Amino acid sequence: MISLSRRSVLALGGAMLGGIGAGGRSAVAGTDAPVIRATTRILEIGGRPARVLGLLQPDGTAGMTLEPGMRFRAALTNGLDEPTIIHWHGQIPPVEQDGVGDMPAPMLRPGETRRYDFAADPGTHWMHAHVPDQEMRLLAAPLIVRSAEDLRADRQEVTLLLHDFSFTPLAEHLARLNAAPADPHAGHAGHGAPAGGATAAAAMDLNDIDFDAYLANDRTLSDPQVVRVERGGRVLLRIINGASATVFRIDTGGLSARILAVDGQPVLPIAAQRFALAMGQRADLLVEIPAGGGAFPMLALREGATERTGIVLATAGAEIRRIAPLGEANAAPYASAQEAALRAALPLASRPPQRRFDVALTGTMAPYAWTIDGRAWGRHRPLQARSGERIEIALTNRSGMAHPMHLHGHRFQVVEAGGRRIAGAVRDTVQVPANERLVLALDAGQPGRWMFHCHHMPHLATGMMTEFVVEG
Ligand code: C2O
Ligand code: CU
Repeated sequence: MISLSRRSVLALGGAMLGGIGAGGRSAVAGTDAPVIRATTRILEIGGRPARVLGLLQPDGTAGMTLEPGMRFRAALTNGLDEPTIIHWHGQIPPVEQDGVGDMPAPMLRPGETRRYDFAADPGTHWMHAHVPDQEMRLLAAPLIVRSAEDLRADRQEVTLLLHDFSFTPLAEHLARLNAAPADPHAGHAGHGAPAGGATAAAAMDLNDIDFDAYLANDRTLSDPQVVRVERGGRVLLRIINGASATVFRIDTGGLSARILAVDGQPVLPIAAQRFALAMGQRADLLVEIPAGGGAFPMLALREGATERTGIVLATAGAEIRRIAPLGEANAAPYASAQEAALRAALPLASRPPQRRFDVALTGTMAPYAWTIDGRAWGRHRPLQARSGERIEIALTNRSGMAHPMHLHGHRFQVVEAGGRRIAGAVRDTVQVPANERLVLALDAGQPGRWMFHCHHMPHLATGMMTEFVVEG
């Protein structure tokens, strides 16, 4: 490993992550569309074999990287023994290709192959099963679309896909949450929150599921990925929070870092100290490697807790020290000040809204049931608009937990946070902390039924979704 040139490390990284170089180039126009297979794989987690799912190309590349101007073209094969459907999170395909079961295309049967072909939007995006239980079993991978600017910039790109992992299936987690509503940690086989005290109380509001491991590019801190970087070099860290129910706070260990984009959309760069990502969100960080070199852990801390995961950026010859999987103090929870501080580099054109919606995020731990306007999917009231209309959606969280809300088929701009009107970030997933209110603006896009839901997978599983219906 130590003697590999930067070029071969890059290629290796690409093959492993689909994040860099090699994966994308196999997909050059003129050849047949690359195959992405939903399949099973074995990871070693905490010394135990874990049978998980994955989205792999035949050469082992996870997910896909596209070079500037390429369309997203893929043949998706369901290699699982259960139906699945994959959503291209951050992309805006025609609604038939959006990847939500029966909206309108059915799930892929075992063995079925389906073709996808649509114009790709640049940025750090991802692909994942739109089935909560499958997403939780790691049926998720990067979907990186490089821009012309990425090609020009003199920087190394590193993709970091974060996840949480539990040996316990989602159905059992839900059953336990419903059976023991007063203490969601009781009886858990994994490392629960410390019993009693303020920590356990805080953990109940922030983290309602305890996991057996937290993963960075499928690995824990007992054997983290080490990425070779250059002394004095610049690294574009494309971070994807693919976790099912964990908010991560990014810790660059004091290395200077700036946020260039969130959810694939450029923002006015700000310092990345204490930046957090909710489930479904992405952030591009420009990290400066000191001229003196060294080994630099890029950590992701579980909010309100001590668990952590991460990778190591290391220059040639640097000594890689062991990193404890638990930090010394609980990581600070996500704070809405972060959203209020972001400014879009490419804001929406300013125009008055033609329609406004007031949406309440609702639900309870006991029973474990999460809803929108008090209604679960199936009893939901769709938000309706005409294509081209400027819409504002005020989201008010009237529940005791934060909810990362994701809208399909659109990008929205955060135009009010912390009670102030702002020209905030353009995104597709926004974290709405408990008891707070945010306002989003967007232009209604292509006609169709577009999902609007919480990206916390157990919340989604209990029905925390509605739809945005756009008429032509
Ligand atoms: Cu990333 Cu509807 O999901
Ligand atoms: Cu939620």
